[in-house]
Amino acid sequence: MTIARLSQQEKLQLLNAAERVSTKAYAPFSHFQVGAALLTEKGNLYAGCNVENSSYGLTICAERSAIVAAVAGEGGDKLKIRAIAVINARKQHCVPCGACRQFIYEFSPDALVLFYSRDGLQEKTIAELLPYGFGFL
Ligand code: THU
Repeated sequence: MTIARLSQQEKLQLLNAAERVSTKAYAPFSHFQVGAALLTEKGNLYAGCNVENSSYGLTICAERSAIVAAVAGEGGDKLKIRAIAVINARKQHCVPCGACRQFIYEFSPDALVLFYSRDGLQEKTIAELLPYGFGFL
């Protein structure tokens, strides 16, 4: 398994795109706007934000929004995520939830995940964030 290496420029590109899209989030209930941007192996960038709903459980996180856009753009069978950046509009601690970890894992068990924790910018592989992610053999 190879760990996705990203240039400094690619990391900045992802973080900037995630920050930009976070301002579009629909989060009237939590007021916690999140943006995610991912880079595919084909070299395309896709972004998404969280979209909440009056029926709270229907909320979709920014990471999954970005992945859904990438599947629509490249086709799910071919999609391989090199890296994904997640950011809160106010740069607050924002760590991918368990559901999003599994969603990322589906499209690349060795994707790099960039996010801000209380200790600052973190760069972890999805395998580090989700050991024993689920997949059919
Ligand atoms: N949220 C995300 O979009 N991504 C994360 O990684 C964590 C949480 C959203 C879901 C909800 O709209 C809001 O943040 C508060 O939980």
